[in-house]
Amino acid sequence: MRVVVGISGGIAAYKAALAIRELVKAGHDVHVVPTASALRFIGRPTLEALSRNPVTDEVFDDVAAVRHVALGQSADLIVILPATANTLAKLAHGLADDLLGTTVLASRAPLVIAPAMHTEMWEQPAVQANVRALAERGATIVGPVAGALTGADEGFGRMAEPADVVAAALEAAGRHSGALAGRSVVVSAGGTREPIDPVRFLGNRSSGAMGVALASAARAAGASVTLVGANLHVPVPSGVELVEVETTAQLREAMLERASADVVVMAAAVADYRVRGAVDEKRSKESWGEAPTIELELNPDILAELAGLPREGLLVGFGAETEADDDALVERGRAKLARKGADLLVLNRVGHDEGFGAVDTRVRVLDADGVVADASGQKASVARVIIECVAQRLASAGEEHQ
Ligand code: CTP
Repeated sequence: MRVVVGISGGIAAYKAALAIRELVKAGHDVHVVPTASALRFIGRPTLEALSRNPVTDEVFDDVAAVRHVALGQSADLIVILPATANTLAKLAHGLADDLLGTTVLASRAPLVIAPAMHTEMWEQPAVQANVRALAERGATIVGPVAGALTGADEGFGRMAEPADVVAAALEAAGRHSGALAGRSVVVSAGGTREPIDPVRFLGNRSSGAMGVALASAARAAGASVTLVGANLHVPVPSGVELVEVETTAQLREAMLERASADVVVMAAAVADYRVRGAVDEKRSKESWGEAPTIELELNPDILAELAGLPREGLLVGFGAETEADDDALVERGRAKLARKGADLLVLNRVGHDEGFGAVDTRVRVLDADGVVADASGQKASVARVIIECVAQRLASAGEEHQ
């Protein structure tokens, strides 16, 4: 994605360097447009080195390439951090007396603004009116937050953390033009626990990392995402709605309630069995005896139940197999897909050091005809590939309906 990073002249300008670095690391083509005063706070060489692109604040540089509008026209996203009171006023009134002004006016890309100024300035009705005007026209305003300011003062007006600004910016870009913009996605993640008594349960090793990565990738692709989380060990990404559950019965209820979403992903490791005769009081050794047995009964298969409902959305299941042979693994996956009745199955191999909680993952995405994608690496990048498959599938289903 081509991202324009605008910087205006406040002390927080040095923090823009961190945002640029993060955007470049995430693979984006970053073009920095500082104002003249921003360049008094942070040097051009820093911005060029980090963005790996030439940097100028001059409208009259590179006139042959019509730079004053070309940058804005080709941008997929514009992020301005920090935005001073002066820059906010110029943006709110459509002024174009510098390269940042012309770039913003020449663009239809989502605009994300992170204001930073002293509390008194931020609270001025004029500044507030400008911020409101920009927000009403669709700009995303991130922060400011409370904290230490430049002088000895402290208060509201500090720029939001660069990582938070970047996250909000990518989210805004996804909402605008992501492959799942306007779609609803429900992802189950984590592992269900089946109580034995109030203090003990039967559970599994799932951390929920894969499901959470999928929720995050779906959010970044513009979807509105609900995560049905069963005992997650990982943090929930911002912008994702969390519904917490513990047992398979609770997970089932939460998923059935949301079965009409455009995409339903069953990434949770569901306990296949629950304890027959779980009790409300803690079992003691005395009541349990020397060699107790725990009797289990089968849980409902949520994925199969979802597949049996009348639906228009896409249903994605997961298959965890310990099969070592690749061909046999895929064959098992295809059989599971057919048995469960889902549209896609994400197949991964698990063992004691593969899959669960591990950093690197390899998955194959199957449909009824066979393998449609093969991805390996960190869970975040594997999740992006899975979400791409989902988006492609939805898009082609949409074309068929036309
Ligand atoms: N699943 C489910 N409800 C269950 C068990 C599993 O919805 N009671 C879902 C999982 O979330 C996953 C898929 O089914 O999307 C496959 O889970 P897995 O445990 O691999 O499948 P099983 O049918 O339990 O297969 P096996 O016979 O290998 O245990």
